[in-house]
Amino acid sequence: MYRTHHCGELKIENVNENITLSGWVQKIRKLGGMTFIDLRDRYGITQLVFDLEKNTKLAEAATKLGREFVIKAEGKVVERSSKNPDMQTGDIEIIVEKLEIIKASETPPFTIEDESDGGEELRMKYRYLDIRRNPVRNALILRHKVSKAVRDYLDSKEFIEAETPYLIKSTPEGARDFVVPSRLSPGSFYALPQSPQVFKQLFMVGGLDRYYQIVKCFRDEDFRADRQPEFTQIDCEMSFVTQDDVIKMFSEMAKYIFKTIKGIEFEGDFPIMSYEEAINTYGSDKPDLRFGMKIHQLNSVTQNRGFKVFDDAEYVGGICVEGASNYSRKQLDKLIDFVKKPQIGAKGLIYAKYNEDGTFKSSVDKFYSQEDLKEWAKVFDAKPGDLLLVISGEKSNSLNALNELRLEMGDRLGLRKKDNFVPLWVVDFPLLEWDEDSKRFHAMHHPFTSPKAEDLELMDTAPGKVRANAYDFVVNGVEVGGGSIRIYDNELQHKMFDLLGFTPEESEAQFGFLMEAFKYGAPPHGGAAFGLDRWVALLNGSDSIRDVIAFPKNNTGRDIMIDAPAPIDNAQLNDLNLKISPTT
Ligand code: AMO
Repeated sequence: MYRTHHCGELKIENVNENITLSGWVQKIRKLGGMTFIDLRDRYGITQLVFDLEKNTKLAEAATKLGREFVIKAEGKVVERSSKNPDMQTGDIEIIVEKLEIIKASETPPFTIEDESDGGEELRMKYRYLDIRRNPVRNALILRHKVSKAVRDYLDSKEFIEAETPYLIKSTPEGARDFVVPSRLSPGSFYALPQSPQVFKQLFMVGGLDRYYQIVKCFRDEDFRADRQPEFTQIDCEMSFVTQDDVIKMFSEMAKYIFKTIKGIEFEGDFPIMSYEEAINTYGSDKPDLRFGMKIHQLNSVTQNRGFKVFDDAEYVGGICVEGASNYSRKQLDKLIDFVKKPQIGAKGLIYAKYNEDGTFKSSVDKFYSQEDLKEWAKVFDAKPGDLLLVISGEKSNSLNALNELRLEMGDRLGLRKKDNFVPLWVVDFPLLEWDEDSKRFHAMHHPFTSPKAEDLELMDTAPGKVRANAYDFVVNGVEVGGGSIRIYDNELQHKMFDLLGFTPEESEAQFGFLMEAFKYGAPPHGGAAFGLDRWVALLNGSDSIRDVIAFPKNNTGRDIMIDAPAPIDNAQLNDLNLKISPTT
């Protein structure tokens, strides 16, 4: 027998019991003739004691153990003289009577502590050791709990978990596909699903009514802290629903998750904001509502004062940072550098300090009088002591830069607390997005998203203005989920494909099966998918979804533990009828 208890279990009630524990050596300490070993497993740590005087051989054996050795210890539970209230088992310790080394360990490449000395890449290479650390193990346990809560909730609402294939044909979610060559059809490739989108719609045609799946999705896209090439969705679809029904169902799911995992109860409905409002007041379609600092447009109060930068700009707008009028020249210069970074892309930043004495000091005093600046302040409803930060230029670039600046100021002022969760739905997204490079429209969500009935006429006259029955679920500036009410009418779907630049032959080749299915009594349907990794990262207070994925890829898409991707040998290439051309 390896163990009678685990390492987080023994309490004062167990004193005098003879027990057996197995686990890893966390730490060895020698104090005079006494050796103390912290024995660790998933459940906790128990202190083992070896007394040189009482059992010399055993105590000497204990000093020869090393970190991460796997051992078995038999002994008696005793009450500790100096108790450790911070430890689950801190009231007791084990006087060891028998010790067995089950498996010795080499010295691990980094310390197995909450604050490890190993960098992220090193810890990813030895992820199995990283998983022994509390933060990683706890993230995986949290992930399990979130998945379970999701399953419990959806099961209670009659959703059926059904699987969909991984070897499929391209699904248009806007990223590049990962492809898998077929041996049996030389020269042909499967694509890995970017999401199970078309299959879940076919489930609705199949009459399943309510479907979900916790499912891997694959997207070959550029890296960010909240993106992985393979990630997990909580993918859902429902029949005979409107947008309101879907929003209600998944608001309840979100509330259930917050309650079960964090004990947080939300009263009432989550706010619903239009895409237009989100962009104009926060510069982002995923606004962080943990703080205000809304963006205000200033064109009307900045024109015709001889300041060419503002006069010539399509857009002038800014934010008001409460209580920051005492920002120093140096701090302001840092902000100017920040907005000029290439990824933020502003040309510059104008400031106006609303001093405590009611006067203004701005970087454009040459052009704007005290009265003018007072007008600016009015737009923001600013008070003495506030700092106005203004950016101008092309509208969407300026709003984008203001969004980044707002988030930066939120961080600096400590307004983005990780344990404060502020969810909302963003709705009324545009159906289509114009792409200057390819000179054609792209679906903003995906090609199966339905236009709003009241905008249908615009599809012929002003397609860029058509709004979609699409919605995103956003928490603390993170797009946690998104979905839409689908097109289920062939004619409309064809029109959409046409607007997206597919010829009838191309849409037939790619989506003929779906169009065929719609001929046989398709019910109205809609759904949403939530990023499980993002949900868990948010609840875990992690900045990167890598922290909550068991075996993540690094930021160049590599699994550095198993060393993938890797070349394959010639025999395999021949089987697949593939030839690699030398890279130039
Ligand atoms: P969408 O593309 O918005 O919608 O994806 C849904 C959610 O999946 C998460 N997500 C990601 N998470 C980690 N890494 C990635 N690379 C990544 N890409 C997306 C996000 C996102 O909100 N089929 C539609 C859903 C629908 O219409 O029902 C879809 O996939 O949290």
